[in-house]
Amino acid sequence: MDIFEKCEKPSLAKELKEKGLYPYFHALESRQDVEVMMEGKRRIMLGSNNYLGLTTNPEVVEAGVKALEKYGTGCSGSRFLNGTLEMHLELEEKLGKFLRKDGIVTWSTGFQSNLGIISSLVGMHDYVICDRENHASIYDGCKLSYGKMLRYKHSDMVDLERVLQKVPETAGCLIVTDGVFSMGGDIAKLPEICALAKKYGARVMVDDAHGLGVLGEGGRGTASHFGLEDQVDIYMGTFSKSLASLGGYMASSPAVAEYVRHTSRPFIFSASIPPANCAVALASLTYLEKHPELPAHLRSLSQYAREGLTGRGLKIRESAANVPTPIIPIYTYETYHTLDVSREIYERGVYVNPTLPPATPEGEALLRTSYMATHTKALLDEAMDIIADVMVKNHE
Ligand SMILES: Cc1ncc(COP(=O)(O)O)c(C=O)c1O
Repeated sequence: MDIFEKCEKPSLAKELKEKGLYPYFHALESRQDVEVMMEGKRRIMLGSNNYLGLTTNPEVVEAGVKALEKYGTGCSGSRFLNGTLEMHLELEEKLGKFLRKDGIVTWSTGFQSNLGIISSLVGMHDYVICDRENHASIYDGCKLSYGKMLRYKHSDMVDLERVLQKVPETAGCLIVTDGVFSMGGDIAKLPEICALAKKYGARVMVDDAHGLGVLGEGGRGTASHFGLEDQVDIYMGTFSKSLASLGGYMASSPAVAEYVRHTSRPFIFSASIPPANCAVALASLTYLEKHPELPAHLRSLSQYAREGLTGRGLKIRESAANVPTPIIPIYTYETYHTLDVSREIYERGVYVNPTLPPATPEGEALLRTSYMATHTKALLDEAMDIIADVMVKNHE
Protein backbone atom coordinates (compact mmCIF):
# COMPACT_ATOMS: atom_id res chain seq x y z
CA MET A 1 0.00 0.00 0.00
CA ASP A 2 1.20 3.52 -0.78
CA ILE A 3 1.81 5.38 2.46
CA PHE A 4 0.54 8.58 0.78
CA GLU A 5 -2.85 7.07 -0.12
CA LYS A 6 -4.55 8.77 2.86
CA CYS A 7 -3.44 12.19 1.59
CA GLU A 8 -5.58 11.85 -1.55
CA LYS A 9 -8.76 10.84 0.29
CA PRO A 10 -11.70 13.24 0.86
CA SER A 11 -11.35 15.24 4.07
CA LEU A 12 -13.23 17.91 6.02
CA ALA A 13 -10.54 20.46 5.09
CA LYS A 14 -11.02 19.77 1.36
CA GLU A 15 -14.81 19.91 1.68
CA LEU A 16 -14.71 23.24 3.55
CA LYS A 17 -12.37 24.77 0.96
CA GLU A 18 -14.79 23.78 -1.81
CA LYS A 19 -17.70 25.33 0.11
CA GLY A 20 -15.78 28.54 0.90
CA LEU A 21 -16.04 27.81 4.65
CA TYR A 22 -12.38 26.99 5.38
CA PRO A 23 -11.47 29.15 8.40
CA TYR A 24 -7.73 28.58 8.81
CA PHE A 25 -4.43 30.19 7.73
CA HIS A 26 -5.83 33.71 7.18
CA ALA A 27 -2.70 35.81 6.59
CA LEU A 28 -1.88 39.00 8.47
CA GLU A 29 -0.44 41.94 6.54
CA SER A 30 0.23 44.02 9.63
CA ARG A 31 1.46 43.73 13.20
CA GLN A 32 -0.43 41.47 15.61
CA ASP A 33 -2.47 44.20 17.34
CA VAL A 34 -6.01 45.04 18.49
CA GLU A 35 -6.85 45.91 14.88
CA VAL A 36 -5.06 44.15 12.04
CA MET A 37 -4.95 44.12 8.28
CA MET A 38 -5.85 40.63 7.18
CA GLU A 39 -6.44 39.63 3.57
CA GLY A 40 -6.78 43.23 2.45
CA LYS A 41 -9.24 44.38 5.10
CA ARG A 42 -9.27 45.89 8.60
CA ARG A 43 -10.37 43.34 11.21
CA ILE A 44 -10.81 43.76 14.95
CA MET A 45 -8.64 41.09 16.54
CA LEU A 46 -10.61 38.94 19.00
CA GLY A 47 -8.56 35.85 18.38
CA SER A 48 -4.97 36.25 19.54
CA ASN A 49 -3.21 35.23 22.75
CA ASN A 50 -1.38 38.55 22.87
CA TYR A 51 -3.10 39.23 26.20
CA LEU A 52 -1.07 42.26 27.26
CA GLY A 53 -0.75 43.70 23.76
CA LEU A 54 3.05 43.75 24.06
CA THR A 55 3.85 42.58 20.50
CA THR A 56 3.68 46.23 19.40
CA ASN A 57 4.97 47.88 22.57
CA PRO A 58 7.81 50.27 21.55
CA GLU A 59 10.15 49.25 24.43
CA VAL A 60 9.68 45.58 23.64
CA VAL A 61 10.15 46.02 19.89
CA GLU A 62 13.31 48.09 20.47
CA ALA A 63 14.80 45.40 22.71
CA GLY A 64 14.30 42.83 19.93
CA VAL A 65 15.89 45.05 17.28
CA LYS A 66 18.91 45.81 19.49
CA ALA A 67 19.48 42.11 20.28
CA LEU A 68 19.28 41.24 16.60
CA GLU A 69 21.97 43.83 15.88
CA LYS A 70 24.18 42.80 18.80
CA TYR A 71 23.91 39.01 18.66
CA GLY A 72 22.84 38.33 15.06
CA THR A 73 19.94 36.22 13.90
CA GLY A 74 20.27 32.88 15.66
CA CYS A 75 22.32 30.72 18.00
CA SER A 76 22.67 27.73 15.65
CA GLY A 77 22.82 25.17 18.44
CA SER A 78 21.36 23.93 21.68
CA ARG A 79 21.62 25.53 25.10
CA PHE A 80 23.58 22.44 26.16
CA LEU A 81 26.47 23.10 23.78
CA ASN A 82 27.05 26.21 21.70
CA GLY A 83 23.69 28.00 22.00
CA THR A 84 23.73 29.64 25.44
CA LEU A 85 23.81 33.45 25.46
CA GLU A 86 24.35 35.38 28.69
CA MET A 87 20.92 36.82 27.89
CA HIS A 88 19.33 33.34 28.25
CA LEU A 89 20.79 33.15 31.75
CA GLU A 90 19.55 36.66 32.51
CA LEU A 91 16.05 35.72 31.34
CA GLU A 92 16.05 32.58 33.49
CA GLU A 93 17.24 34.45 36.54
CA LYS A 94 14.67 37.23 36.13
CA LEU A 95 11.85 34.74 35.55
CA GLY A 96 12.89 32.73 38.63
CA LYS A 97 12.73 35.84 40.79
CA PHE A 98 9.38 36.88 39.31
CA LEU A 99 7.81 33.45 39.78
CA ARG A 100 9.56 32.84 43.11
CA LYS A 101 10.99 29.49 42.03
CA ASP A 102 14.75 29.09 41.81
CA GLY A 103 14.96 26.41 39.13
CA ILE A 104 14.23 27.62 35.59
CA VAL A 105 14.74 25.78 32.30
CA THR A 106 13.80 27.32 28.93
CA TRP A 107 12.94 25.65 25.61
CA SER A 108 12.49 27.15 22.15
CA THR A 109 8.69 26.78 22.22
CA GLY A 110 6.02 26.17 24.83
CA PHE A 111 5.04 22.98 23.03
CA GLN A 112 8.58 21.69 23.33
CA SER A 113 8.60 22.61 27.02
CA ASN A 114 5.73 20.26 27.77
CA LEU A 115 7.33 17.52 25.68
CA GLY A 116 10.63 18.05 27.46
CA ILE A 117 9.40 18.36 31.06
CA ILE A 118 6.99 15.45 31.08
CA SER A 119 9.11 13.00 29.08
CA SER A 120 12.08 13.73 31.30
CA LEU A 121 10.30 13.36 34.66
CA VAL A 122 7.80 10.58 34.02
CA GLY A 123 9.83 7.39 33.90
CA MET A 124 9.03 3.76 33.10
CA HIS A 125 7.26 2.95 36.38
CA ASP A 126 5.66 6.37 36.94
CA TYR A 127 2.14 7.66 36.31
CA VAL A 128 1.03 10.97 34.79
CA ILE A 129 -2.57 12.09 35.33
CA CYS A 130 -4.23 14.56 32.96
CA ASP A 131 -7.39 16.63 32.89
CA ARG A 132 -9.23 15.63 29.69
CA GLU A 133 -9.13 19.23 28.40
CA ASN A 134 -5.36 19.59 28.79
CA HIS A 135 -3.44 21.07 25.87
CA ALA A 136 -2.23 18.80 23.05
CA SER A 137 1.41 19.39 23.97
CA ILE A 138 0.78 17.88 27.42
CA TYR A 139 -0.71 14.79 25.83
CA ASP A 140 2.22 14.50 23.46
CA GLY A 141 4.63 14.90 26.38
CA CYS A 142 2.85 11.99 28.07
CA LYS A 143 3.09 9.89 24.90
CA LEU A 144 6.79 10.64 24.66
CA SER A 145 7.38 9.51 28.24
CA TYR A 146 7.79 5.87 29.21
CA GLY A 147 5.20 6.15 31.99
CA LYS A 148 1.50 5.36 32.13
CA MET A 149 -1.01 8.13 31.38
CA LEU A 150 -4.44 8.26 33.05
CA ARG A 151 -7.12 10.90 32.44
CA TYR A 152 -9.91 12.40 34.53
CA LYS A 153 -13.09 14.15 33.43
CA HIS A 154 -12.63 17.89 32.99
CA SER A 155 -12.28 19.57 36.41
CA ASP A 156 -14.10 16.65 38.05
CA MET A 157 -12.42 16.13 41.42
CA VAL A 158 -14.35 12.95 42.23
CA ASP A 159 -13.02 11.46 39.01
CA LEU A 160 -9.50 12.69 39.77
CA GLU A 161 -9.61 10.89 43.12
CA ARG A 162 -10.92 7.72 41.45
CA VAL A 163 -7.95 7.85 39.06
CA LEU A 164 -5.44 8.57 41.84
CA GLN A 165 -6.63 5.45 43.65
CA LYS A 166 -5.47 3.36 40.68
CA VAL A 167 -1.85 4.45 41.10
CA PRO A 168 0.25 1.92 43.04
CA GLU A 169 1.83 3.36 46.19
CA THR A 170 5.25 2.38 44.90
CA ALA A 171 4.90 4.48 41.73
CA GLY A 172 5.76 8.16 41.26
CA CYS A 173 2.84 10.28 40.13
CA LEU A 174 2.53 13.70 38.44
CA ILE A 175 -0.84 15.46 38.06
CA VAL A 176 -0.75 17.86 35.09
CA THR A 177 -3.39 20.49 34.39
CA ASP A 178 -3.79 23.66 32.36
CA GLY A 179 -4.02 26.62 34.80
CA VAL A 180 -6.41 28.52 32.54
CA PHE A 181 -7.86 26.09 30.00
CA SER A 182 -6.86 27.16 26.52
CA MET A 183 -10.21 26.58 24.82
CA GLY A 184 -12.74 26.97 27.65
CA GLY A 185 -11.06 29.86 29.46
CA ASP A 186 -12.02 28.34 32.82
CA ILE A 187 -9.59 27.94 35.71
CA ALA A 188 -8.30 24.67 37.15
CA LYS A 189 -9.54 23.79 40.63
CA LEU A 190 -6.06 24.04 42.07
CA PRO A 191 -6.98 24.03 45.80
CA GLU A 192 -8.75 20.67 45.40
CA ILE A 193 -6.07 19.29 43.06
CA CYS A 194 -3.28 20.19 45.51
CA ALA A 195 -5.20 18.68 48.43
CA LEU A 196 -5.70 15.42 46.53
CA ALA A 197 -2.05 15.41 45.46
CA LYS A 198 -1.02 15.70 49.11
CA LYS A 199 -3.39 12.92 50.16
CA TYR A 200 -2.04 10.50 47.51
CA GLY A 201 1.62 11.57 47.48
CA ALA A 202 1.52 12.98 43.94
CA ARG A 203 3.27 16.07 42.52
CA VAL A 204 1.47 18.89 40.68
CA MET A 205 2.41 20.60 37.41
CA VAL A 206 0.42 23.56 36.04
CA ASP A 207 0.62 24.65 32.40
CA ASP A 208 0.20 28.40 32.78
CA ALA A 209 0.44 29.32 29.10
CA HIS A 210 -2.79 31.33 29.52
CA GLY A 211 -2.31 32.21 33.21
CA LEU A 212 0.98 34.12 33.10
CA GLY A 213 0.33 37.86 32.78
CA VAL A 214 -3.38 37.23 33.29
CA LEU A 215 -4.02 35.91 36.80
CA GLY A 216 -2.45 36.28 40.23
CA GLU A 217 -0.38 38.98 41.88
CA GLY A 218 1.07 41.16 39.09
CA GLY A 219 0.31 38.38 36.57
CA ARG A 220 2.26 35.63 38.34
CA GLY A 221 -0.30 33.08 37.26
CA THR A 222 -2.85 30.57 38.49
CA ALA A 223 -0.98 29.29 41.55
CA SER A 224 -0.48 32.87 42.73
CA HIS A 225 -4.19 33.57 42.13
CA PHE A 226 -5.04 30.79 44.61
CA GLY A 227 -2.13 31.53 46.98
CA LEU A 228 -0.74 28.05 46.25
CA GLU A 229 2.74 28.89 45.00
CA ASP A 230 4.30 26.53 47.55
CA GLN A 231 2.03 23.64 46.69
CA VAL A 232 2.38 23.63 42.92
CA ASP A 233 5.67 21.85 42.23
CA ILE A 234 6.16 22.83 38.60
CA TYR A 235 4.90 25.73 36.52
CA MET A 236 5.19 25.40 32.79
CA GLY A 237 4.65 28.50 30.68
CA THR A 238 5.27 30.07 27.33
CA PHE A 239 6.79 33.30 26.05
CA SER A 240 4.47 33.28 23.02
CA LYS A 241 1.35 34.72 24.62
CA SER A 242 1.48 37.47 27.30
CA LEU A 243 5.24 37.89 26.78
CA ALA A 244 4.90 38.54 23.04
CA SER A 245 7.77 36.33 21.90
CA LEU A 246 8.51 32.64 21.29
CA GLY A 247 9.83 30.03 23.70
CA GLY A 248 8.74 28.27 26.86
CA TYR A 249 9.90 27.47 30.37
CA MET A 250 9.53 25.42 33.50
CA ALA A 251 9.85 26.80 37.02
CA SER A 252 10.51 24.37 39.85
CA SER A 253 12.97 23.60 42.65
CA PRO A 254 16.65 23.83 41.61
CA ALA A 255 17.08 20.03 41.93
CA VAL A 256 14.19 19.24 39.60
CA ALA A 257 15.34 21.86 37.08
CA GLU A 258 18.90 20.51 37.15
CA TYR A 259 17.64 16.97 36.53
CA VAL A 260 15.49 18.11 33.58
CA ARG A 261 18.36 20.19 32.14
CA HIS A 262 20.43 17.02 31.84
CA THR A 263 17.74 14.60 30.68
CA SER A 264 15.27 16.54 28.51
CA ARG A 265 15.90 15.60 24.89
CA PRO A 266 13.91 18.55 23.39
CA PHE A 267 16.19 20.80 25.48
CA ILE A 268 19.49 19.10 24.74
CA PHE A 269 18.94 18.34 21.04
CA SER A 270 17.26 21.49 19.73
CA ALA A 271 18.57 25.01 19.00
CA SER A 272 18.08 27.64 21.69
CA ILE A 273 15.71 30.63 21.65
CA PRO A 274 17.05 33.15 19.05
CA PRO A 275 18.52 36.42 20.41
CA ALA A 276 15.67 38.72 19.34
CA ASN A 277 13.06 36.42 20.89
CA CYS A 278 15.05 36.09 24.09
CA ALA A 279 15.39 39.90 24.36
CA VAL A 280 11.69 40.39 23.66
CA ALA A 281 10.69 37.91 26.39
CA LEU A 282 13.05 39.67 28.80
CA ALA A 283 11.75 43.14 27.89
CA SER A 284 8.11 41.99 28.17
CA LEU A 285 8.76 40.51 31.59
CA THR A 286 10.45 43.76 32.66
CA TYR A 287 7.46 45.71 31.35
CA LEU A 288 5.02 43.45 33.22
CA GLU A 289 7.01 43.92 36.43
CA LYS A 290 6.87 47.69 35.98
CA HIS A 291 3.12 47.58 35.24
CA PRO A 292 1.56 45.18 37.75
CA GLU A 293 -1.80 46.85 37.09
CA LEU A 294 -1.98 45.45 33.52
CA PRO A 295 -3.41 41.98 34.40
CA ALA A 296 -6.15 43.58 36.54
CA HIS A 297 -7.00 45.94 33.68
CA LEU A 298 -7.18 42.96 31.32
CA ARG A 299 -9.55 41.17 33.71
CA SER A 300 -11.80 44.21 33.96
CA LEU A 301 -11.98 44.46 30.14
CA SER A 302 -12.70 40.72 30.04
CA GLN A 303 -15.56 41.24 32.49
CA TYR A 304 -16.83 44.07 30.26
CA ALA A 305 -16.78 41.69 27.29
CA ARG A 306 -18.48 38.87 29.25
CA GLU A 307 -21.29 41.23 30.25
CA GLY A 308 -21.43 42.74 26.76
CA LEU A 309 -21.79 39.38 25.05
CA THR A 310 -24.45 37.99 27.42
CA GLY A 311 -26.25 41.36 27.39
CA ARG A 312 -26.47 41.05 23.60
CA GLY A 313 -28.20 37.67 23.95
CA LEU A 314 -25.21 35.37 23.34
CA LYS A 315 -24.57 32.22 25.35
CA ILE A 316 -21.00 32.09 26.64
CA ARG A 317 -19.12 29.43 28.56
CA GLU A 318 -18.71 30.75 32.09
CA SER A 319 -15.37 30.77 33.85
CA ALA A 320 -15.73 28.07 36.56
CA ALA A 321 -14.14 29.99 39.44
CA ASN A 322 -16.04 33.13 38.37
CA VAL A 323 -12.85 34.96 37.53
CA PRO A 324 -13.07 36.84 34.24
CA THR A 325 -10.30 35.30 32.15
CA PRO A 326 -9.69 36.84 28.72
CA ILE A 327 -10.75 33.67 26.88
CA ILE A 328 -14.51 33.79 26.27
CA PRO A 329 -16.04 30.97 24.25
CA ILE A 330 -19.43 31.65 22.64
CA TYR A 331 -21.55 28.56 22.15
CA THR A 332 -22.44 27.79 18.53
CA TYR A 333 -22.94 24.03 19.09
CA GLU A 334 -23.06 22.66 15.56
CA THR A 335 -20.00 22.47 13.25
CA TYR A 336 -21.43 23.93 10.04
CA HIS A 337 -23.35 26.63 11.87
CA THR A 338 -20.09 27.58 13.65
CA LEU A 339 -18.25 27.82 10.33
CA ASP A 340 -21.07 29.78 8.76
CA VAL A 341 -21.23 32.43 11.47
CA SER A 342 -17.46 32.67 11.82
CA ARG A 343 -17.13 33.35 8.07
CA GLU A 344 -19.82 36.01 8.23
CA ILE A 345 -18.25 37.65 11.29
CA TYR A 346 -14.88 37.61 9.52
CA GLU A 347 -16.38 39.21 6.40
CA ARG A 348 -17.93 41.92 8.60
CA GLY A 349 -14.45 42.74 10.00
CA VAL A 350 -13.91 40.75 13.21
CA TYR A 351 -11.45 37.88 13.62
CA VAL A 352 -12.50 35.07 16.02
CA ASN A 353 -11.46 31.41 16.19
CA PRO A 354 -14.02 28.71 15.40
CA THR A 355 -13.36 25.73 17.66
CA LEU A 356 -14.70 22.42 16.44
CA PRO A 357 -14.71 18.77 17.58
CA PRO A 358 -12.41 17.04 18.46
CA ALA A 359 -11.11 20.20 20.22
CA THR A 360 -14.61 20.37 21.81
CA PRO A 361 -17.08 17.58 22.62
CA GLU A 362 -19.45 16.70 19.73
CA GLY A 363 -22.34 19.23 19.53
CA GLU A 364 -20.49 21.81 21.64
CA ALA A 365 -18.60 23.76 19.00
CA LEU A 366 -17.62 27.29 19.95
CA LEU A 367 -16.35 30.61 18.75
CA ARG A 368 -13.30 31.25 20.92
CA THR A 369 -12.93 34.97 21.50
CA SER A 370 -9.97 36.39 23.39
CA TYR A 371 -9.15 39.84 24.68
CA MET A 372 -6.15 42.13 25.15
CA ALA A 373 -5.29 44.75 27.76
CA THR A 374 -4.87 47.24 24.89
CA HIS A 375 -8.41 46.84 23.51
CA THR A 376 -10.60 49.90 24.05
CA LYS A 377 -14.21 49.54 25.16
CA ALA A 378 -15.28 51.28 21.93
CA LEU A 379 -13.49 48.64 19.86
CA LEU A 380 -15.00 45.84 21.93
CA ASP A 381 -18.48 47.33 21.51
CA GLU A 382 -18.00 47.54 17.75
CA ALA A 383 -16.88 43.89 17.60
CA MET A 384 -19.60 42.62 19.94
CA ASP A 385 -22.30 44.46 17.95
CA ILE A 386 -21.14 42.70 14.78
CA ILE A 387 -21.00 39.27 16.45
CA ALA A 388 -24.46 39.70 17.97
CA ASP A 389 -25.86 41.00 14.71
CA VAL A 390 -24.63 37.92 12.85
CA MET A 391 -25.50 35.38 15.53
CA VAL A 392 -28.69 36.65 17.07
CA LYS A 393 -30.46 38.70 14.41
CA ASN A 394 -29.46 36.80 11.27
CA HIS A 395 -29.72 33.31 12.71
CA GLU A 396 -32.79 33.39 14.92
C1 LIG B 1 -2.09 25.45 27.29
C2 LIG B 1 -0.98 25.56 26.28
N1 LIG B 1 0.19 24.93 26.52
C3 LIG B 1 1.20 24.99 25.65
C4 LIG B 1 1.09 25.67 24.45
C5 LIG B 1 2.23 25.69 23.49
O1 LIG B 1 2.85 26.93 23.52
P1 LIG B 1 3.63 27.55 22.28
O2 LIG B 1 2.60 28.00 21.28
O3 LIG B 1 4.37 28.67 22.87
O4 LIG B 1 4.49 26.49 21.71
C6 LIG B 1 -0.09 26.33 24.17
C7 LIG B 1 -0.23 27.07 22.89
O5 LIG B 1 -1.22 27.11 22.24
C8 LIG B 1 -1.17 26.27 25.09
O6 LIG B 1 -2.33 26.88 24.84
